[in-house]
Amino acid sequence: CRLPPLPLSRRACSRFPPARPAMGGHRGATPVLAALLGLGAVLAYGERRRRATPAPQYPQYTREEVGRHRSLQDRIWVTHGTEVFDVTDFVELHPGGADKLLLAAGGPLEPFWALYAVHNQPHVLELLQEYKVGELSPEEAPVAPEATQDPFARDPQRHPGLRVNSQKPFNAEPPAELLAENFLTPNELFFTRNHLPVPTVDPASYRLRVEGPGGRELSLSLAELRSRFPKHEVTATLQCAGNRRTEMSSVRPVKGLAWDIGAISTARWGGVRLRDLLLHAGFSSERQGEWHVCFEGLDTDVGGVSYGASIPYSRAVDPAADVLLAYEMNGQELPRDHGFPLRVVVPGVVGARSVKWLRRGAITPAESPSHWQQNDYKGFCPSVDWDTVDYKTSPAIQELPVQSAITQPRPGAAVPEGELTVKGYAWSGGGREVVRVDVSLDGGRSWRTARLKGEQPVAPGRAWAWVLWELEAPVTAGAELEIVCKAVDRSYNVQPDTVAPIWNLRGVLSNAWHRVRVTVT
Ligand code: MTE
Repeated sequence: CRLPPLPLSRRACSRFPPARPAMGGHRGATPVLAALLGLGAVLAYGERRRRATPAPQYPQYTREEVGRHRSLQDRIWVTHGTEVFDVTDFVELHPGGADKLLLAAGGPLEPFWALYAVHNQPHVLELLQEYKVGELSPEEAPVAPEATQDPFARDPQRHPGLRVNSQKPFNAEPPAELLAENFLTPNELFFTRNHLPVPTVDPASYRLRVEGPGGRELSLSLAELRSRFPKHEVTATLQCAGNRRTEMSSVRPVKGLAWDIGAISTARWGGVRLRDLLLHAGFSSERQGEWHVCFEGLDTDVGGVSYGASIPYSRAVDPAADVLLAYEMNGQELPRDHGFPLRVVVPGVVGARSVKWLRRGAITPAESPSHWQQNDYKGFCPSVDWDTVDYKTSPAIQELPVQSAITQPRPGAAVPEGELTVKGYAWSGGGREVVRVDVSLDGGRSWRTARLKGEQPVAPGRAWAWVLWELEAPVTAGAELEIVCKAVDRSYNVQPDTVAPIWNLRGVLSNAWHRVRVTVT
């Protein structure tokens, strides 16, 4: 996410003059601009213009020589296949962050590209060519095959009905047509948000570690978790902070996966209450000031860093907050994509805090140091851009704002005249019940109230699950309808009418009125 304010001039940065042959292209503004506009890794690399230049003769280097270039002082060299590249000038421009590119310094790119498969595209290779400074000596062995093995090869099979936003890592949402068909989303269709490969966990040897101040520590097997603690069940909706991001990027490009309205799903989760476990481990049931519970997953990046996130300790021990360590989802064993064998479920809170494949929980005075807690999943003013953003200035998203969307009909549909059925979902963070959903067929000039269908919350303020809603209205042939929905929660929070005033560079918290245009035939 860290991008520099201005593209570095290749000449200005060429402090180290290796035998750099003449380059055909110029590292122009295209990738930089695209990155700054936040089009994400794929677009950020941009389309490269080809220029006809004679094939240059390159010097040859051994792997050992390449390996000496692993710092900005010594320049950053990497290899790909048999080619050697000096990517020093690109480090700060790397859309995935300078730190990620530096992990590959002095060695082959392949093991990293295998993990971040977005790189395996022709225009990325073309961009790389502009940084070529040499060839590996012919006697150098190619990269060992195990180093290039696909870390996603052991990801589970997925349902073909899912609308896939990215294959590796896997990110997909249920098709809008099916989203509101079931109050409990079938496990196979539950949206999946993975940042990394799905870990393969042996349930027999799995252990959860819980650590806290005063050296208090606990390690539990799955069998112990199941037998020592009462099973608690909670019906809760999970929503990704990036749900409905595509609407935000239609205002101005944002950085992130192109989620439509389906980065949200509901399940009945079964497992151990986090509160029970913390008390069993000897931790206090009191608030503990501003302490936090930091979670770590078993999924790791190439540097061995796990996915992590935290919630305030006060929420973790609050009996009314229903925070769960779930081993069941809709009455079945937790599926691999959703955190097998154990995941956190934090009802009413952004999905990012519900850490999957949980390996460790630590009680600490500070929030999780994880990238996803500190430098992602935060909201900003619409005028903050990638030049000015300072992640320290915004709090990590926890409870989400009120949300609703139309799942039927779909945008651009031709609907028959007569009785039109409009369907959708509505939900609010923090357990705030949705008390009303207003629907308009004329772009918001007049409104009707939709019929709500859902489960009664266990208590007021503990409405963790969405409501599904429906409205029937007569429509006549030839009409062009702009269907709009907006939900109201128990605190009378309402959704903003347009996206532009809530636009933010990361495309999170997109909850403006949902609008669907259709024609009546
Ligand atoms: N936990 C781990 N270990 N790794 C992840 O990538 N993604 C988070 C959260 N927990 C993630 C994780 C995000 S951003 C979301 S929205 C939810 O998981 C999605 O949960 P799901 O894939 O079961 O829908």
